Amino acid sequence: MTRTDLNIGLFGFGVVGQGLHAVLARTPGLRARIGRIAVKNRGKARSLPAEVFTYDKNDLLSDPGLTVIVELIDDADEAYLIVKEALLRGKAVVTANKKMLAEHLPELIEIQQTTGTPLLYESAACASLPVIRNLEEYYDTDLLESVEGIVNGSTNYILTAMHRDAQPYAAALARAQELGFAESDPALDVEGLDARNKLVLLLAHAFGAVVAPAELLAVGITSISELATAYAREQGLIIKLVAEARRLPGGGLAAAVLPTLVRPGHELAQVHDEFNGLITQSTFADRQFFLGRGAGAFPTASAVLSDLSALTYGYRYAYKKIHQNAHLVLAPDAAEVDVLVTFDDASGAPDRADFVAVHQEFRSAQRGNYLTGTIGLGQLARASWLRAPGVCVVRLASPLRAAVAVPAALEEAAVA
Ligand SMILES: NC(=O)c1ccc[n+]([C@@H]2O[C@H](COP(=O)([O-])OP(=O)(O)OC[C@H]3O[C@@H](n4cnc5c(N)ncnc54)[C@H](OP(=O)(O)O)[C@@H]3O)[C@@H](O)[C@H]2O)c1
Repeated sequence: MTRTDLNIGLFGFGVVGQGLHAVLARTPGLRARIGRIAVKNRGKARSLPAEVFTYDKNDLLSDPGLTVIVELIDDADEAYLIVKEALLRGKAVVTANKKMLAEHLPELIEIQQTTGTPLLYESAACASLPVIRNLEEYYDTDLLESVEGIVNGSTNYILTAMHRDAQPYAAALARAQELGFAESDPALDVEGLDARNKLVLLLAHAFGAVVAPAELLAVGITSISELATAYAREQGLIIKLVAEARRLPGGGLAAAVLPTLVRPGHELAQVHDEFNGLITQSTFADRQFFLGRGAGAFPTASAVLSDLSALTYGYRYAYKKIHQNAHLVLAPDAAEVDVLVTFDDASGAPDRADFVAVHQEFRSAQRGNYLTGTIGLGQLARASWLRAPGVCVVRLASPLRAAVAVPAALEEAAVA
C-alpha cells in the first residue's frame, strides 16, 4: 500500500493538542505536519506564531489542503459538529473525545460506512494503551469472554493518592487537574461517566454491541464512604473504579462501571496513579493484561500519533463484530453482582427485597451500617436507594456473572 503525506487541521491546543505538536516534532519518520490550528479563546498566550491559529472552524473544514482533521477540544457538542462535518467532506478524522463518540457512535459508524472516510480514536479509550485496534483486529476471531479494567486515569490517580498516600479526596482531585489528567468537567471523571463512555467504545470493538451510555450502570467514586474504605482495609483489599463487560452464557452481555474491591494479587491492584489497565479474557488466548499511562499529554498524543500513522497506510475500522455478533445485546436482568452497601441511619437501609440474597449485615451507631449481598445488575441500576445521599455501593471482589434464577417479576413480564 502506498503511504500518503498528512496535512493536519488541528482542533484544540490544550494538554493533548500541545502534546501532539511536541511528539510530531520528534517523529520525523511520520510524514505528517500540522497546517493550521483552531482554538477558542482569543486572549490566551500561545507558544506558536499567531498566524498558525484561527478561531473559525471553517478555516480548517473548508481548506482542501488539510487532508486530516485531528479533533482535540474539550467541548463534546462542538466536537460532534466538527467531526461529522469533516467526515461528510471526505476528511479523515482522528479524535480523543470519548464523550462525543459514546453519545453519537451509531451515527458516526454509519457516516464512515456510507462515505468510506475513516474515523480513528485509539486515544479515546485508555489513552496510550493500544486497546481499540487490538480488540478490533487481534481479537477478531478469538471468542472474547470479557474485558475488565481501570479505564479512567484521574480517578485511579485520586484513589491511589487516597489509599497509598493518605491524601484527602479534594487535594488528590486538585493535583490530578494540575497534572492535566482530569477532564475539564471533573464530574465526568469522578461520577464514573468518562469510564462509562469508554465502556461504550470497548463494547463496540470487543463485542460489536453499540449501546447508548445511559444504558450502562455507572457509579463513580464520590460516594465511597469511610466505612467502605475501612472494610476494604480490614479485608486487605483495594478499592478501584472498574469498568467491566462480560459475555453471559445465555447469549447476553453484562456491563457496568462500579467501584470494586480488588485483591492484592489481581492485575488491577498493580495499576497505580494515572495508569490504566485492561484485562481481556478469551477462549484461545486466555487472560491478557494491558498496562500503561491512561492520561496526560504525551501518552495520549502517542495514541493520536499511532492513529495518524495508521491513516498513512489506509487503515479504517471495519466494525466486523457488529455483523458477526448481532445477537449479543445488553442483558442486565440476566446478570448479578455481589456488592457491599454502606449506609447511614438518615439515608435509610437499602431494600432487602431488591437482593437475591443478603449475606452479611452490620449495624453500629459509631461506625455506620453495611450489608453485603447478591443483587441483579438491572435491579441495582433501578434501585431507588442507589443514589441516595449517605449510600455507598462497592462491588465485591467477584466478577459480574449470569443470574442463577431469572427474577420472578421478569418471568411474569416475559409471560405477559
Ligand atoms: N488530558 C488527557 O489526559 C486526555 C486523555 C485522553 C483523552 N483526552 C481528550 O482529549 C480532548 C482534549 O483534552 P485536553 O485535556 O487537551 O483539553 P484542554 O487542555 O482543556 O484543551 C482544550 C482545547 O480545546 C480548545 N477548544 C475548546 N472549545 C473549542 C472550540 N469550540 N473550537 C476550537 N477549539 C476549542 C481550547 O481552546 P483554548 O486554548 O482557546 O482554550 C483548548 O485549546 C478531550 O476530548 C479529552 O476528553 C484527554
